Amino acid sequence: MCGIIAYIGNQEVVPLLIGGLKKLEYRGYDSAGVCLVIDHGLKTVKEKGKVVKLEKSLVKQKLSSTIGIAHTRWATHGEPNQINSHPHLDCSSKIAIAHNGIVENYHALKELLESEGHKIVSDTDSEIIAHLVEKFYQGDLEQAVTKALELIVGSYGLVVMHQDEEKIIAARKSSPLIIGVGDGEMFIASDVPAILKHTKQVIYLQDEEIAIINKDEYSIKNLNGQPVNKKIEEIKWSVDQIEKGGYKHFMLKEIFEQPTSIANVISGRVKDNQIKITVNFDIKKVKRIIITACGTSWHSALIGKYLIEQLTEIPVEVDYASEFRYRQPVVNKEDLLIVISQSGETADTLAALREAKLKGAKTLGIVNVVGSTITREVDSGIYLHAGPEIGVASTKAFSSQVVALLILALYIRQEKKQKLDERLLKDLDNLPQTIKETLGLDADIKKMAKEFKGVTNFLYLGRGINFPVALEGALKLKEISYIHAEGYPAAEIKHGPIALIDQEMPVVFIATKNNLSEKIISNMQEVKARDGKIIAVVNEVTEEIKKLADYTIEVPEVSNKLSPIINVIPLQLLAYHIANDKGIDVDKPKNLAKSVTVE
Ligand code: AGP
Ligand code: GLU
Repeated sequence: MCGIIAYIGNQEVVPLLIGGLKKLEYRGYDSAGVCLVIDHGLKTVKEKGKVVKLEKSLVKQKLSSTIGIAHTRWATHGEPNQINSHPHLDCSSKIAIAHNGIVENYHALKELLESEGHKIVSDTDSEIIAHLVEKFYQGDLEQAVTKALELIVGSYGLVVMHQDEEKIIAARKSSPLIIGVGDGEMFIASDVPAILKHTKQVIYLQDEEIAIINKDEYSIKNLNGQPVNKKIEEIKWSVDQIEKGGYKHFMLKEIFEQPTSIANVISGRVKDNQIKITVNFDIKKVKRIIITACGTSWHSALIGKYLIEQLTEIPVEVDYASEFRYRQPVVNKEDLLIVISQSGETADTLAALREAKLKGAKTLGIVNVVGSTITREVDSGIYLHAGPEIGVASTKAFSSQVVALLILALYIRQEKKQKLDERLLKDLDNLPQTIKETLGLDADIKKMAKEFKGVTNFLYLGRGINFPVALEGALKLKEISYIHAEGYPAAEIKHGPIALIDQEMPVVFIATKNNLSEKIISNMQEVKARDGKIIAVVNEVTEEIKKLADYTIEVPEVSNKLSPIINVIPLQLLAYHIANDKGIDVDKPKNLAKSVTVE
């Protein structure tokens, strides 16, 4: 996701664009740029890094204009650098675009455009939009943009300008865009904070709508050119509320973004029962896989072990990166090292990657931040496309990591000409909707959380592929509520931890349906027999569960290989509400950083 703001009116546009971009930096901050109409020409200024760097560059140039578009980037295609920054121009430098989203078919469109003589200068998917508009431009920008959009597969929040037309065209599909209506001026933005100081009158563009805007009026049409009636709405929120989408914390917003972030990690990679990812080496030759990571990413690595071994029969080892790098690991050329990192900057993970490369292993990164250090050093990678994860406690990145690992395991299976399980693929396709359904538990969990005020210890228990979910649930609680919590394999408690069980120790069981259901019921009985207080995450509240559990959380049933993604959601919510009830700043817990770039 990224931030877009555009303006057409009577005011000096540069301070408006910069002020707006600063309000949108929470949506992406790899690079930023503006394009202005000056004396019937286009002037573009773009800088890698945060908006403040662009601002410094613009102050020196003292540019004057009343029409412009601006963009702060969250890279998906093409590393963060000056040339890949938006806005992008066509060959004639008369058309400028800024884009939020992913052009899934940009390889094909790029080939088409280059075969027609267009020179694509950046590595981004977005730039081809400028050239597509140029391809269709015959003096009418609206018509050229409409034709270009007909060819685009993927998502867009898009603004387009032509130096000779005193208007801005905006179009939306899946990525948000609003129009701010002023007096003799108009604004377009990805989100309300960018324009709230100028107007509270907004129009929310819907998918496949196009807006034609000049300083005094706007018209909105569908992609068939038919006018669409839209009402102007009055913004009631404060700026702070809006940056978080109305949620109190970024963490809660990111928990609720998981239907979208999961759709993004699947998008373009799983289609018609086929897996489409690019791996720059022959993965069929891999004899052993080592996955290394830290924290929450290490938990998704543990789930990856179950997924990859069960689907490919390739042995998988999982290591804390901080341990791997110092234990003189035995690594050889037939090994594949997978590193998982949301930030792509975690020092221990980066060091482990370098250690394995020195020993000749192939390497693959599962990373969220495009162009981060780890992504530059691996042989191949799978980007999460989860959008910026601002909350220190990782949530949407974790679930996207698990899906990325499943996609990798299915890809290996496909490469080895083994059949893909259709029910699993169907559940994967429905996963965003199933997550949305699971998020409906929030109100109940918010109420349940109040029962645990003052609790000082928690135990989380799971088995099989849900054991790492127990670890993740415990880490979420620990890092944002400061309550001590431990995750354990459920069968393991009789080897020690069961000594801790009493009325004061809530025990969370992840007990959804699988081949170990009977076993976990026995483990619940062991805890119940010692007056333990049980919270059970189940697919069905049976009579047996009612007898054993003090609290139940009923989640939708999915293929067991996908169950960690559903089962973690109530645990994310439980941790959030317990911490929030304690008045803790959930987005910035004490002693923690979003990216641990030190050893
Ligand atoms: C998880 O909620 C924590 N923020 C932390 O454990 C994190 O997962 C760990 O530092 C790894 O970060 P990375 O994924 O960016 O490498
Ligand atoms: N896919 C485009 C790029 O990587 C836009 C990303 C965004 O939404 O910021 O430049």
